[in-house]
Amino acid sequence: MNKLILTAVGLLLALPSFGERKPIYKDSSRSVDERVEDLLSRMTLKEKILQLNQYTLGRNDNANNIEDQVRNLPAEIGSVIYYSDSPELRNSLQKRAMESRLGIPVIFGFDAIHGFRTIMPTPIAQACTFDPELVEKCASISAMEAKKAGVDWTFSPMVDIAHDPRWGRVMEGYGEDPYLASVMAKATVHGYQGDDPSDGKHIAACMKHYVGYGASEAGRDYVYTEISRQTLWDTYLPSFEAGVKSGAMTVMSSFNCISGIPGSANRYTLTDVLKDKWGFEGFVVSDWGAIQQLRSQGYAEDKKQAAEESINAGLDMDMMNGCYDVYLEELVNEGKVSVERIDDAVRRVLGVKFRLGLFEHPYVEPTRYEERFLLPEYLATARQAAEEAMVLLKNEGGLLPLSKPSSIAVIGPMADSRYHHLGAWHGKGTGEKVVSTAAGLKERFPDAKITVSKGCDFDGDDRSGFEDARRAASDADVVILCLGEKNDWAGENASRSSIALPAVQQALADEVAKAGKPIVLVTTSGRPLDLHLLEPLATSMIQEWQTGIEAGHALAAILAGDCNPSGRLAVTFPYSTGQIPIYYNRRQSARPYQGFYQDITVEPLYEFGYGLSYTTFDYGKVEVSDTLINAGTKLKVRVPVTNSGSVDGTETVMLFIRDPYCRITRPVKELKHFSRHLIKAGETFVYEFEIDPAADLSFVDSEGNRFLDPGEYDLTVKDQTVKLILK
Ligand code: GLC
Repeated sequence: MNKLILTAVGLLLALPSFGERKPIYKDSSRSVDERVEDLLSRMTLKEKILQLNQYTLGRNDNANNIEDQVRNLPAEIGSVIYYSDSPELRNSLQKRAMESRLGIPVIFGFDAIHGFRTIMPTPIAQACTFDPELVEKCASISAMEAKKAGVDWTFSPMVDIAHDPRWGRVMEGYGEDPYLASVMAKATVHGYQGDDPSDGKHIAACMKHYVGYGASEAGRDYVYTEISRQTLWDTYLPSFEAGVKSGAMTVMSSFNCISGIPGSANRYTLTDVLKDKWGFEGFVVSDWGAIQQLRSQGYAEDKKQAAEESINAGLDMDMMNGCYDVYLEELVNEGKVSVERIDDAVRRVLGVKFRLGLFEHPYVEPTRYEERFLLPEYLATARQAAEEAMVLLKNEGGLLPLSKPSSIAVIGPMADSRYHHLGAWHGKGTGEKVVSTAAGLKERFPDAKITVSKGCDFDGDDRSGFEDARRAASDADVVILCLGEKNDWAGENASRSSIALPAVQQALADEVAKAGKPIVLVTTSGRPLDLHLLEPLATSMIQEWQTGIEAGHALAAILAGDCNPSGRLAVTFPYSTGQIPIYYNRRQSARPYQGFYQDITVEPLYEFGYGLSYTTFDYGKVEVSDTLINAGTKLKVRVPVTNSGSVDGTETVMLFIRDPYCRITRPVKELKHFSRHLIKAGETFVYEFEIDPAADLSFVDSEGNRFLDPGEYDLTVKDQTVKLILK
């Protein structure tokens, strides 16, 4: 009976009383809060609950999520995952919503992770640019294309810190360092959302996967993660805090179990930290199926209990679980979920929709394909990002840049592949527009004889192409050996037990090396690779990553010297899989000079921050404004750097700190500032930094309380360390 009364009252309230002016929620001159409250007061419980659900629009294009096709979407559904690249279909569904009783627009979401149609380098590659302005620009282009396609919300940036490159999703984040990931999170959020997310050119960002997903045991996906509270605050929360405090409108809860409490039912992270401590006003959407997966994680007996646990922990919207829409009303009627909690979740969803301008602009103006995608300026940015992302790992005898080669052999499974330059999560990108390595080289070196020989496939054991490859190498001045991973070898549900390339690729390299010609090894991958057996065969090495639609042009520009490589590793390259986990900001061992492996080195092949240039940079003396500092005074640091080579080059100066003795032990060094700058040959540039002790010399404890630890600090730039005393 009371349900009937409630419904009747709700319906009466919704009717505009005789002579009522436009309802407050439809009045754009009113504040968002006023509009939210007015609309909420008019909604029935059913309408509120529908706002807390997201389904696909009939299709399910995400191969990792094995779900039924969704039928009969209610007009009042809160959100839809939108797989089309044009707005017409969206507009037709939106029309049904706008014509429903209260006319609440649907918010359309999609995974535009590193570009929508103009595919940029993967996020791990973008992190290697150490260029947040460029990363922001990549995100803003992605937002423009997505918005014009009918998408209001991207499930990006992914800011999970990962120390295990066996985990495929290491490609999707910004590497191993919390500070770098935080800087990139802020840049990406602003790129997506702009200053006014309702301007028709921007979309809502989504910080994911909250939280600790990258700690997946042994690099397997979706598994348990053992994360202490201290490590949660030290390593996994900072990039989310940065994104949330820079205004990210949504957060996505993670699949992983966080030391016994799954991320999608974890009240501490979802409510105590995110909403209460950080003041997050947006909404939390589950990852796909993450609520109903509480059953397999042993946290909920059935979908109804899963719904109860998740909503009460602070998870606001159900992505493709079939839990909230089916069970929340029953749970409210049974008193297991409060109307207040439902209202809080609905307020958050409505607030995002109002701030995105969806009530005023529910539809997207249809445009022609060539008006909305692949614009020249988009491709130019994609090329710049690809050039800045690639990392020169080795360059013996200055083989690179190539000086007018008359014949080039381009060998390997990546020699002429286009599709595999896209990387996982390549949105609406396709291989047909990607510039392959061979195509880029032919365009850049039109007078050279360029022979392309695949040699072998990415895996398998067919060596029938080896002879042709070795012959091509013998006939050439230089070999560009293009090895790497297929698109789907990294990404979601793409864990690998070894980070070495398949044996057949190593065998091809060994065979080609017999030709005795200089080899430039170019590796295309979503994750750091074990290159220690390939390294001795190569004169030069470039970690290309998966740099998207302009890959071939960017690589050719680097090989030709049109572009001096400036990428620096955002993630450590282990010597081999056996070293994993290995990362630069590790704690000091109790016996730093013992405890080593008996069979391999303890040093990684290439450490975080590593990367070469075609020029050389000489660091002058690091100068600090004072060595005795207190919490209230900022410290100025100056680092003169001279380009002592013969070509212009961009150097990224990184500033690390270390607290050698602390009541909670600290890493051997922690990145706190970086700055990149182009320095002309022979010139000197003085990099300036400002250390704010409260931000840069403080740490958090296991409850997220920040504290200063007076005493000795090491400030390190390159190979110089300055001792500081914090009073
Ligand atoms: C996937 C991913 C998540 C993505 C979502 C929607 O399973 O874990 O990152 O945004 O589903 O596709």
